[in-house]
This record gives sequence, structure tokens and C-alpha cells, in this order.
Amino acid sequence: MAKVKTSYFCQNCGAQYAKWQGQCTSCREWNTIVEEVIQKEEKSSWKQGTSGSGQKKTSRPLKIHEITRTEEHRMSSGDHEFNRVLGGGIVPGSVILLGGEPGIGKSTLLLQIALQLPYKTLYVSGEESQSQIKMRAERINPGSEHCYVLTETKTQNIFKQIESTDPDILIIDSIQTLHSDYIESSAGSISQIRECTAELIKFAKETDTPVILIGHITKEGNIAGPKILEHMVDTVLQFEGDRNYVYRILRALKNRFGSTAELGIYEMLGDGLREVTNPSEILISQSKDALSGTAISATLEGIRPLMIEIQALVSTAVYGTPQRSTTGYNVKRLNMLLAVLEKRAGFRLGAKDVFLNVTGGISVDDPAIDLAVVAAVLSSNEDIAIPKDACFAAEIGLAGEIRPIQRVDQRILEAEKLGFSTIFISGQNKVAVKNSNIRIALVSKIEDVISDLF
Ligand code: TYD
Ligand code: MG
Repeated sequence: MAKVKTSYFCQNCGAQYAKWQGQCTSCREWNTIVEEVIQKEEKSSWKQGTSGSGQKKTSRPLKIHEITRTEEHRMSSGDHEFNRVLGGGIVPGSVILLGGEPGIGKSTLLLQIALQLPYKTLYVSGEESQSQIKMRAERINPGSEHCYVLTETKTQNIFKQIESTDPDILIIDSIQTLHSDYIESSAGSISQIRECTAELIKFAKETDTPVILIGHITKEGNIAGPKILEHMVDTVLQFEGDRNYVYRILRALKNRFGSTAELGIYEMLGDGLREVTNPSEILISQSKDALSGTAISATLEGIRPLMIEIQALVSTAVYGTPQRSTTGYNVKRLNMLLAVLEKRAGFRLGAKDVFLNVTGGISVDDPAIDLAVVAAVLSSNEDIAIPKDACFAAEIGLAGEIRPIQRVDQRILEAEKLGFSTIFISGQNKVAVKNSNIRIALVSKIEDVISDLF
């Protein structure tokens, strides 16, 4: 009997070793190295039986102006947000990986897209049966004519079905459930994921069929399996949001065919995901009275302007050490801003509990939110409400100075569109917007904001 060939793989980062060891030298995790059976077999095409095309075309270097560019063609997915994140649509032959936590709505999103697509689509699920998918599809969009559903986990069988169905787009839910005959180890192991992805990439490139893969996410928020997966595919999308809220954000972490600055916003409803075309209106609470501790920030998510409400609660600490807790905002950044307020503006917040909340369950890392955070904290501390028609967009430096931010005009226009009458920005920002109905309050120190507001 031939000797079974095995190798050792780190289940965290995918590094390969010749023998077992306790700690992975590449990602420094302990006890993640597992022996997996690998078996090499000659194969050069995703199709079974065919052994490649005999003589292969070899490439030779060309001057950049000699290269003829084929007109970029994109397949519209029928979903504006999805198209926007991909940079205009699905590129033929590209491989897209969609990651996200369990239950966030990855299967729903892709099934919905499969049902909307005007192309022949094959949706392969290794997780749900055909009748389960049918039940879900009936809730979302029962009228699709082009969507085929297959429950299968073996790549060779999938390719066999592809030969007879000949789809224009292939969707795989999820890459962790697939297994290939060429590898002995169990589904979901590093070598299986790598092999199955490689086979699918080969299929995509040889037939110019786009492939969309769903990938699970680990506790740490990485796509489960090897980081290598992210290097192999053309586009990595992340579907995120707080499961307790209805909003979901789709963003590109990597995109070979477009920018990673765009993002798509969805709302999870009883009958699938709905595109949110005007997110700002939803993220701001519609209460009539101005409440203390609330401030609105004109932020940018990627390149999309978004008005976000910040809520702060400042109260006297009950225990010796004051608590600082945040949702949707970096707690270290909050501590820094509180230190700046204490040192530069003379507010005694050292013995106060401070809680901060970004509403809507989204998390923000745009530095332009700083000024709204400070305004919300001061408003709660003084118990004076900030007028509901004022908003903020500026970063705060360690010296207490109010710093300029990028794309200020876009933020001003969004604020104006939503009916705000004042926007506070840094005095150093150059504003190109003219004849706007909104008052642009240029401030350079926290004191300027305080004297204008309170
Ligand atoms: P699912 O797509 O199965 O998540 P994932 O594939 O990322 O694990 O969706 C999970 C949740 O979405 C589920 O808890 C129920 C909810 N949901 C809705 O609220 N409305 C719907 O129309 C559908 C299909 C699902
Ligand atoms: Mg799923």
C-alpha cells in the first residue's frame, strides 16, 4: 500500500509544516497545528477526464501601450448596493468571497441576488436542502426564472452538474462545506478549503464565469480557514452589522476591480434584505424634543456621507474607578478626548462615568466624529440640549485644537440636504460650497464650540 502523504497545517493562519509543533511560528497561536492527509494527483483542468490543453499558450512581455484592452464588461446584479460595492457590477471570471458572522444574512443576500439576476445562476448549498432554500426563496422573491438550486458538497459533482446546466454565475454557500476528491482530509480543513477554492478559481478563469463564495468568520472576525483564501480571490466582501438591529453594511475589504471605499447598506426585513438608499434619515432619531447628551455627526463611511447620532451619558461615578464604556466607538479614543477636555478645557470629568453610544448598531472609525463625541459628552455633563438642527464634523487633536477633515463639502451638502441649519467644522478647512442655506460655523478651539452652543 502506498504511504499516505500528510502534512501539518495551522488551523488559524494556514501555515504548512513538515512536522508537528506546539506553537505556530507564523501566527504565534498555540495548539492550532493539525495533521491533514494530502494526496497529490495529476490534474490540470477543472473538468474531469480532460487533461488540459496539451500545448499551453505562454505569455511574453509587452510594452504597456501594445496591450490591447478588452472593453470592461460588467454583469449587473440587479442590486444597486451590491453593484456599487463591487465597483459597478460583477466582472466575468472574477471570484468574490463574501464573509460575515453566522446569522448575519449572507445566504439571504446571495439567494436574493441569485433570484434577481437576469442570468442563469446556479446556487449550490452545502448547508441547506433544496426545499429549505425554496422556502426562503418564496419569502424573498418567488418569481425567478433563471435560478437553479443544487445541494452538493463535492466539487467534482458540482462541476459535473455545471457541465450540463452551464450557468452564467455560480454561487457557493459556503466554501467551508465543500470537499474535493483530490484531498483526503475532512471538509472545512485548511487543505480542503485551499484545494476547493483553487479548483473554483480555475473554473472561473477558464470559463469566464464569475463565482461568488460564502465564507464563515471566526470569533476573531477573520474569514475562517486560511488567510490565504483572501489572497487567492479577486474580491473580498464583508457583511456586517449588529444582529440585534436591522441594518447591515456590505463593504469591500479587497477589490481588484474597483475601490474599497464604497459601501452598501441594507435593512433586514421579514421578506429579505431591502436596499437603504437614504441611510442618514433612518440613523437619526425622529424625536421632536432636543435631548441633552445627543449630538449629530456628519461622517463618511468609505466615500458615502452618513449622518450619525451620538449619545453620551455622563454621571458621577458610584465606584472608585470611573467607568468608560462605548458601543460603536473606540473606547481608547473616548479616553483621549476626555483627557483633552480635562486638560485643555478645564472640565472635571475624571471622577465621572462616561457612556457613549453610536445609534443604529453601526461602528464608526471616521475621525471626524470626534467633535460630535465631545459635544455629546459636554451636553450630557451640563445637561443642556444641543439644538436639533446642529451637526458636527471635525477631528480633535491632543492640544485641544479642532482639526480639518477630508471631503468637508460632501458632508456640508448632506447636512444641508437633511435640513440641518448649522454645521460646526474646523476653521482650517477650506470650504468650496457656495450659497448654501446652512450656516457653517468655523471653530478652532473647544471653547469656541462651547460659547456658540451653551
Ligand atoms: P442567513 O442568511 O441564514 O444568515 P447566514 O447565511 O449569514 O448565516 O440569515 C439569518 C437571519 O436572517 C435569520 O436569523 C433570519 C433572518 N431573516 C430575516 O429576518 N428575513 C428574511 O427574509 C430571511 C430570509 C432571514
Ligand atoms: Mg448561511
